[in-house]
Amino acid sequence: MAEVIAGIATSHVPSVGVAIDKGKQSDPYWAPYFAKVEPARRWMAEARPDVCLVVYNDHADAFSLALIPTFALGVAAEFAPADEGYGPRPVPNVMGHPELAWHLAESLILDEFDITIVNEMTVDHGLTVPLSLLYGQPEAWPCRVIPLCVNVVQYPPPTGHRCYQLGRAIRRAIDAYPGTERVAIFGTGGMSHQLQGERAGLINAEFDHAFLDRLIADPEAQAKVGHEVYLREAGSEGIELIMWLVMRGALDARVRQVYRATHVPTSNTHNGLLVLENDPTT
Ligand code: DHB
Ligand code: FE
Repeated sequence: MAEVIAGIATSHVPSVGVAIDKGKQSDPYWAPYFAKVEPARRWMAEARPDVCLVVYNDHADAFSLALIPTFALGVAAEFAPADEGYGPRPVPNVMGHPELAWHLAESLILDEFDITIVNEMTVDHGLTVPLSLLYGQPEAWPCRVIPLCVNVVQYPPPTGHRCYQLGRAIRRAIDAYPGTERVAIFGTGGMSHQLQGERAGLINAEFDHAFLDRLIADPEAQAKVGHEVYLREAGSEGIELIMWLVMRGALDARVRQVYRATHVPTSNTHNGLLVLENDPTT
């Protein structure tokens, strides 16, 4: 049977992608951040998942305001990087896993999660930056990738609770898949950040650390936290953190924290990085 081997949570800041693409990782601004990424990269090189299921939000690149799916699952064989205004990032196309993705679609929809099936789309920084962070700059990504988009751009986004329950349903689906794939699930976005308006630049490290503590130890309680709390405490784009609950829902009730780091500044965000494995002692 297929297996969920780990959960990874990371911010998906576009300028981090630019820093990698332009070889600026040792610049004074970036070096302290990339030093914190290194242990997660080493873990990834050992763990070598066959499939990465990447939960992220499209930032009006693949989807426009003409079409706003709440949850959208990519079932294609291949996804090209999106052109976000400066040309597509110079990263390999992402190879999908249509068989597992269609299994997920069937399992989730029959489990009453009415997700949108996407046969064709490009993938933006929300997905490609986390891959670059964990894998660097390979000729080809060393894993298959299944994109799962969550709307956090246009009100109303799904609740944190719904995201957590979706993660649980994803876990049921993967557990029931008759393959041998080892799957890592990514939750991306966050942490506290607000990109425009009067509170642009807001960082709330206290909120973010409390979020991480509860995400790890008591995800059911974190799942009950409402949007207004994220908006007030973590800024308008801090709502991206609900996607980390999808990742957490796909893991066991008890998890082991393999790695945790946060960093300021990367753009205008409190940047978080978390690697979790199911706790073998439970
Ligand atoms: C920025 C954009 C994002 O989508 C994000 O999650 C964090 C930062 C930015 O433009 O800086
Ligand atoms: Fe984002």
